[in-house]
Amino acid sequence: MTTTIFVCVSCRRGSGGNDESFDRPGPALVQAIESRLRDDGVAVTAVDCLAVCKRPCTVALCAADKWTYLIGDIDPDSHADEIVAAALSFAASDNGIVPWRERPPSFRKGVIARVPPANHKEMQ
Ligand code: FES
Repeated sequence: MTTTIFVCVSCRRGSGGNDESFDRPGPALVQAIESRLRDDGVAVTAVDCLAVCKRPCTVALCAADKWTYLIGDIDPDSHADEIVAAALSFAASDNGIVPWRERPPSFRKGVIARVPPANHKEMQ
């Protein structure tokens, strides 16, 4: 089962305190992640918007029948290794829930939501 790291390539990160001074860190993050991935069942895919535009740059960890994590405030220069490590832990898990001890700092601080798989049923 493939794990996909979706990376928003539309996020604008302000750099000068006004609306006209910004960069788009997503494409650099896609490249940084791509260069770190091996043949380990994890892929990276660019996406236009994950609807968390105020937390650039935003990523989602997804796989069939697993919980999905949405994570923001990811920097391509300092967090690519951590996101790849988190994706490998996610891929190794049964249900997508990454144990707290395996979550790198950017994951712990940046997590916005986790969403259950479509077939999820709570145990009663
Ligand atoms: S533009 Fe990146 S989440 Fe909307």
